[in-house]
Amino acid sequence: MDQAATQPDRQGGRLLVVDDEPELAAVLCETLAGLGHAVRRAGDGAEALRILAQEPAQVVISDLRMPRMGGMELLEAASGRGLDADFIFLTGYGTVENAVECMRLGAADYLLKPFKLDALARAVDKVLGEREVRLERRRAVMPASGPAPRPAGPAEDPQVLLRSFLVQVRELFTPQGMALFIYNGAHNGAGNGAGRRTVHGKALAADPAAQDWLAALGARLAAEGRPKLLEPRLTAAARGVPESLRGTWIMAAPVGNDAGGGPGGALTALVRAPSGPAWTGQDLRMLAALAGHAAQSLEGLRACRRLRDLNMEVVLSHVRAVEAKDTYTCGHSERVAQYAVRLGRRLGLAEADQETLRAAGYLHDVGKIGVPDKVLAKPGRLTEVEMGIMRRHPALGREILGRVTTLAPALPAIEHHHERWDGRGYPAGLAQEDIPYLARIVSVVDAYEAITSERAYQPARSDADARRILARGAGSQWDPEVTAAWLALLEAQGPPAP
Ligand SMILES: [Fe+2]
Repeated sequence: MDQAATQPDRQGGRLLVVDDEPELAAVLCETLAGLGHAVRRAGDGAEALRILAQEPAQVVISDLRMPRMGGMELLEAASGRGLDADFIFLTGYGTVENAVECMRLGAADYLLKPFKLDALARAVDKVLGEREVRLERRRAVMPASGPAPRPAGPAEDPQVLLRSFLVQVRELFTPQGMALFIYNGAHNGAGNGAGRRTVHGKALAADPAAQDWLAALGARLAAEGRPKLLEPRLTAAARGVPESLRGTWIMAAPVGNDAGGGPGGALTALVRAPSGPAWTGQDLRMLAALAGHAAQSLEGLRACRRLRDLNMEVVLSHVRAVEAKDTYTCGHSERVAQYAVRLGRRLGLAEADQETLRAAGYLHDVGKIGVPDKVLAKPGRLTEVEMGIMRRHPALGREILGRVTTLAPALPAIEHHHERWDGRGYPAGLAQEDIPYLARIVSVVDAYEAITSERAYQPARSDADARRILARGAGSQWDPEVTAAWLALLEAQGPPAP
């Protein structure tokens, strides 16, 4: 599906066309490629996400309704992952509501099908132009003076961030050896107890004495928070310098300080032979600036994680509150989360989607916090009115969690976990592939968990009973393929441990 159509000329942008109608997608790609854009193509939102993760696009031109993952979910998932692409939506069943919803979610533009190809070309040019202006503005507020280290770039993992920092340092200073020490507050100022070290360069890697000496130097500098340049005449004369480091150039700079835990308190040290070109004060300032930038990014990352953990804690306290209202459902959400991840893995979903499933599993019933206790824990059948109240919980869940940006990818699965394959579910009455894929997964494992657990309105049934019920409902209540995958998993691995 995915294809590189042509190289862009100077005006061209990097575009991704996402549509499940192959003929239409082909025409769009061909037209846009003919205008000098580099165009790639995906058959649905899930495929588009994979492509975007590997090769970011500037503009995504996407259909709204597609199997597995539709356009709006794609936009939410992409922005949730920090992908900086502008979206133009193509809406075939163009209602004002859809268009408004697209723009509210942050789409740059939308076109109502059928549209003229030159209207699409104009929309793409407009969005690319606006994007350029936005980037220009962003550049204008960056500091213009002093050394201008390249930013380390977005990274979700501190290890990835530190690695990219080391790559930059190596490119800029071409050292023979380089070490990064992570102290995590573990050192005592004399270099003992440095946490982790990453060493580059053969000679340095095979020289533990040199590493220890650099770690000790680093510990002092990290504690003082300042960089240092040691010239060959200094390292030749100073006491205690290991033989292999005598007469070398050494440059070291702290990466943040060791307050606050995490991967702060790191120090990078570079070594170069005396015969190599001299390092100057300017080089040291550059290294310190790069290290400072890496430290800032690490701190930002830690702040995000703290916020995410905090958000999650608040949200999980809601889940516990829901389960406390109904003793029968105790542990239900955790089990649904576990089952959903297992099923997602079985279905070959990417790691990130499995994590989204875990969150959706935990949180799918969080909206029940708004359901009165007497309805929630009522033994026996609910009345029509009570059923109506109960049925509000998926939408309520979405409302409660809607402001937690990190949970954005899980929202469709939470909101639609009670839809049915035949369209008779709630809250939206979506059918078949219009139901978000992750919601279909949660729906199957939610049902299995509910059937095999004791509830206010029914005793626990056996694994065999649950499997029979699911098999009967595949194709009417549940997605037949997803159900088949869960049944096959149970067949192969047996029922989950209680
Ligand atoms: Fe539910």
